[in-house]
Amino acid sequence: MKGALIGCGFFAQNQLNAWRDIDGVEIVALCDRDADRLNQSAETFSIERTYSDAAQMFADGGFDFVDVATTVASHRPIVEMAAKAGVHIICQKPFAENMQDARAMVQAAQTAGKTLMVHENFRWQSPIQAALNVVRSGTIGEPFFGRVSFRSGYDVFSGQPYLAEGERFIIEDLGIHILDISRAFFGDAKKISATTRRMNQNIKGEDVATMLLSHEGGATSVVDCSYATQRMPETFPQSLLEIDGTKGTLRLDAGYQLTVQTTDEKKQDVSPPVLPWAEKPWHNIQESVLTIQQHFVDCIKAGKEPETSGADNLKTLALVEAAYLSASQGSTISLADI
Ligand SMILES: NC(=O)c1ccc[n+]([C@@H]2O[C@H](COP(=O)([O-])OP(=O)(O)OC[C@H]3O[C@@H](n4cnc5c(N)ncnc54)[C@H](O)[C@@H]3O)[C@@H](O)[C@H]2O)c1
Repeated sequence: MKGALIGCGFFAQNQLNAWRDIDGVEIVALCDRDADRLNQSAETFSIERTYSDAAQMFADGGFDFVDVATTVASHRPIVEMAAKAGVHIICQKPFAENMQDARAMVQAAQTAGKTLMVHENFRWQSPIQAALNVVRSGTIGEPFFGRVSFRSGYDVFSGQPYLAEGERFIIEDLGIHILDISRAFFGDAKKISATTRRMNQNIKGEDVATMLLSHEGGATSVVDCSYATQRMPETFPQSLLEIDGTKGTLRLDAGYQLTVQTTDEKKQDVSPPVLPWAEKPWHNIQESVLTIQQHFVDCIKAGKEPETSGADNLKTLALVEAAYLSASQGSTISLADI
């Protein structure tokens, strides 16, 4: 399969490394409006065709899929261009700026008959996959309570300065992943209530969010996120879990330690591997980039809908919108109203 990538920024370097690791895939064209970033990525990954204009790249064609690694404002026009050009699409999160755009993007890919997957990679982290395997196997019975927690004081703003500038920060950028993990474990949500705070006065958006979800299957989960938590050891970028089921409990603790308690207690180190191009502490996220991109390729080959498809991601994005609405109104929001 031949691919093209748009947006040669901070995170795209991981995506380009991961594409190079996947058998049978070659990135043949790159696009970025920033000439320096474009040329640097083209040189690092030996990619000959470069474009400053996505429309020109689609017009020239010669690839089966596009990887959209730009920030959110450009996602809808690029995804619609890609659908018109008749290529499969993998698009970074946040999928869209609002539900209307997201629904239009899903519709565009459906009309074109092409796969549209969101690069919603946190549930693909191997420690999360290990925990999902335990829960999905029924070992702890039916989950009725969960806490998915991401608390850190890591400086994300130096690598991604735009994160300090938006009116929205932690729910839209990071909470979106943690809400998606909650969906992966407990299913879709019916209702959500949320509180938010801004502790760091040097940024515009909120950096603390606490969310309570009622899931359709009856489970309750707490999703809590913070970039204002000073603690040692620093756990960035680990998502921690506590799950109570009818037959036992599961915990994913700091340092990737998985504990499953039923009639006995089993402890396992589920630390992710450090890929040759990865570096700590990002290795957990970097490995999931390879896993999710492999899933995209496997689904296209098998003609299957990806687990984190555009249609699926509408439900994660709706949780983000509902959480902001709840925090601003101080009320519980029904997902049916989003
Ligand atoms: N899944 C994860 O774990 C993870 C981690 C970090 C970032 N991200 C996401 O990745 C996306 C990119 O983030 P980043 O930090 O790499 O941003 P970035 O600003 O470093 O890079 C984005 C690049 O896209 C280019 N660009 C923007 N619009 C364009 C257009 N219309 N045509 C051509 N080029 C265009 C910019 O010039 C820039 O080089 C964001 O949506 C972010 O939320 C995901």
